[in-house]
Amino acid sequence: MWLLTVGWRVSGLRHPTILKLGGSVVTNKRGFMSPNLLNIRRLAWEVKESQTKPLVLVHGGGSYGHPLAYRHKVKQGLKKPNQLHGMSQTHQAMVALNKLIVNEGLAAGLPALGFSPLSMVVTEDGRIRDLYLEPLKRALEEGFMPVLYGDTVIDSEKGFTILSGDQLACRLAEELKASRLILGTDVDGLYSSDPKKDPSSVLLESYSVGSQGVEIGGAAAIDVTGGMKGKLAETLKLLEKGVQVMLVNASKPGRVAKALEGEKVKGTLLTL
Ligand SMILES: Nc1ncnc2c1ncn2[C@@H]1O[C@H](COP(=O)(O)OP(=O)(O)OP(=O)(O)O)[C@@H](O)[C@H]1O
Ligand SMILES: [Mg+2]
Repeated sequence: MWLLTVGWRVSGLRHPTILKLGGSVVTNKRGFMSPNLLNIRRLAWEVKESQTKPLVLVHGGGSYGHPLAYRHKVKQGLKKPNQLHGMSQTHQAMVALNKLIVNEGLAAGLPALGFSPLSMVVTEDGRIRDLYLEPLKRALEEGFMPVLYGDTVIDSEKGFTILSGDQLACRLAEELKASRLILGTDVDGLYSSDPKKDPSSVLLESYSVGSQGVEIGGAAAIDVTGGMKGKLAETLKLLEKGVQVMLVNASKPGRVAKALEGEKVKGTLLTL
């Protein structure tokens, strides 16, 4: 078993922790708009008990975002007028998931506050171009725990597109000068190959994102934002800035809590 010592404790408003909870954790990814309420509720308590402040939570789309985005070709952009409806439906699905997650946070006693990326971001060919963070920064200073998500956004080239929770989490970590980014998914970390397809794959204690060492695949279910491969690509710039990035299994009770508390936890530490 791989154990990591993660010696990161956070203090001061200027160095928040960013926690991304994958759609593979907060939803049943093989269903359709099927929330994983047990995971959501447990994770809300893990976050609460770790007393990590300041904290920004970003969640993925899972079975709320990906199937609708795929059906309406949202990532590809606006090509036919009837896609307007589909784009909005995809956004509404994410709003619904965000509402569930914020409500569970509130029920656990967290000062959760939902922020819609659609209202903060314009992308250019899929990459964040404009980002308005003033309300979020002030909310953090006031003691809130902002909760964002992968969303449909307006794109200057394509009309609209999908902004992945992974891209957003990495960019927020950069802009907010985060000390660390914890990426929670439904696998123990990065493996030598997709563990869901290859039972002989082994978990990597650390991994250099710049290297081409392992076979990184997409996702087992529909994932319009590139699965594990897309996730790792997003972290590169952040690693260059010295932000600590780790992958943990958020489906396993206690892993996120341990990572937040800076304790030894099974997972993968990403390096340059
Ligand atoms: N080498 C690898 N190591 C670990 N997981 C891998 C690898 N290659 C592919 N994967 C797949 O990546 C998946 C995690 O990425 P995925 O995008 O599905 O999750 P997520 O980001 O949590 O969900 P969402 O995109 O909805 O937020 C794992 O379930 C696993 O099947
Ligand atoms: Mg994904």
